[in-house]
Amino acid sequence: MTANELRRKYIDFFVSHDHVEISGKSLIPENDPTVLFTTAGMHPLVPYLLGEPHPAGNRLTDVQKCIRTGDIDEVGDPSHLTFFEMLGNWSLGDYFKDLSLPMSWEFLTSSQWLGLEKERISVTVFAGDDDAPKDEESASIWLKLGVPSERIYYLPKEDNWWGPAGETGPCGPDSEIFYDTGKEACGPDCRPGCHCGKYFEIWNNVFMQYNKQADGSFKPLTRKCVDTGMGIERTITMLQGKKSVYDTELFQPIFKCIEADCGKKYGQDDSIDNSIRIISDHVKTSTFILGDDHGITPSNLGQGYILRRLIRRALRHGRKLGYEGKFLGKPASIVIDMYAEVYPELVERKDLILAEFDKEEEKFLKTLEKGEKEFEKLLPNLLKNPKKIIPGRMAFKLYDTYGFPVEITEELAQENGLTVDKEGFNSSYEKHQELSKKGSEKTFKGGLADNSEMTTALHTATHLLHKALRMVLGDHVEQKGSNITAERLRFDFSHPDKMTPEEVQKVEDIVNEQIKRELPVFMEMLTVEEAKSQGAMALFTNKYDEVVKVYSIGDFSMEVCGGPHVENTKSLGTFKIQKEQSSSSGVRRIRAVLSH
Ligand code: ALA
Repeated sequence: MTANELRRKYIDFFVSHDHVEISGKSLIPENDPTVLFTTAGMHPLVPYLLGEPHPAGNRLTDVQKCIRTGDIDEVGDPSHLTFFEMLGNWSLGDYFKDLSLPMSWEFLTSSQWLGLEKERISVTVFAGDDDAPKDEESASIWLKLGVPSERIYYLPKEDNWWGPAGETGPCGPDSEIFYDTGKEACGPDCRPGCHCGKYFEIWNNVFMQYNKQADGSFKPLTRKCVDTGMGIERTITMLQGKKSVYDTELFQPIFKCIEADCGKKYGQDDSIDNSIRIISDHVKTSTFILGDDHGITPSNLGQGYILRRLIRRALRHGRKLGYEGKFLGKPASIVIDMYAEVYPELVERKDLILAEFDKEEEKFLKTLEKGEKEFEKLLPNLLKNPKKIIPGRMAFKLYDTYGFPVEITEELAQENGLTVDKEGFNSSYEKHQELSKKGSEKTFKGGLADNSEMTTALHTATHLLHKALRMVLGDHVEQKGSNITAERLRFDFSHPDKMTPEEVQKVEDIVNEQIKRELPVFMEMLTVEEAKSQGAMALFTNKYDEVVKVYSIGDFSMEVCGGPHVENTKSLGTFKIQKEQSSSSGVRRIRAVLSH
């Protein structure tokens, strides 16, 4: 059975049971600021589930496009999608369990409708807790319908409770219907709800009885409702006997387009397969977001940010398939064609959709190139970190300075056996938000008031100079003193001889080369021991506390230091050594300046 047939059958069935077919709504919830997208068929119906009269009556049915981005990191595995369509039927104070469960049973098992084998169906019902009683009523209805007691499972809230979709709103116990795929049980505890693949969840019947309040309590609804949901993608996968949602006609045309375009075949390499799945999912979801009539475009806020993430993640995976430039327009056009009949808004907005893809791709390719380069420069130092953690501040700097999404930093990290300190990132992000809110008045006084831009720049140049001296003269070079004014730096270091003009030139060239490389400067807090083992330059004496600040300048230098430093070497201008002379016995002194 195709998706089109399933849509039609479902609606016809419920219309034949006195339901009115209503049209699905926007992907952007109208009345619920607590969520970004419509996550279930019931979402647009929330006011009616809470008691508002619906103009079409008390028995409704529809197909609703939905987006769930909570699972975005799992997209790519064979069953998680960000966009899906949900079939649903509702009773607004009309029937309850008494009719809801028998109708579901009829639709699933009658040969006139889906004709599934009754013996392979199991159900779950709510086990009961302090908020709501054990659902004996549903269990007895299932028994009467012919489901034997050993295939009726009582499960707790985490399995058998639905809603609210946002933080507050209608919710209640549910009864879920599963189909046994025939796969071997994964163990003695394997049961519906287990994710091993034996039990396939087809349908959820929610008995909306409560309105969850902001304080977490459950207030009984005056009018009990039913909300059901059947995911189209998953259900046709099961009906077609396919292993994965991606094997169905709702994805295959997109796969074919990508395969033909990039020359890579699906099914030969796990990582390529993963990328093809991710691109297909994200192109589809992005096409639908752009095709919605809310005019969402990629941005750094709300839905626009999700859209941006989807497009950018798809592009990154495209690069894994060998794409170097823009490529999402073609698969997006395929998505529009595939859904043209069911969602004509996509066709109406086709030009706009394709233009937005194009714009965002263009932007991101530029960002990506820069960000990946920065990441590569940082990688050698990162790999030396024994904890294999990218400090949150560093991830934030990539985000803040290069617009590099933290999710992509995480992916790159993972590819290199590293993780990102996400909490650290979040706290830098929040701090940044707070600071931007407060404005720049006084906020920076403590740190930077005594450090003009020039002294900060000269401070960073001193690190570059220190490293360059060691490269040209040898590892015996050690800092003996440093003095910086707003005009110049002065650096004393151990070295027995006067430097030759060639050596001076070489040092100068190396420093200027690093400035031109536009290296990002990052600070992390490490213990003296970690700093040492990672090769940070420092005078490891007792004057350093246990935990020290370590400044890295790209992959070029790493030094224990109090800061502050510039964010990127590109702001330094040109470095010039003005004088090289003796300071004391075995110690040389360099005076240098920066100019623009
Ligand atoms: N609202 C219920 C769900 O999404 C039916 O599963």
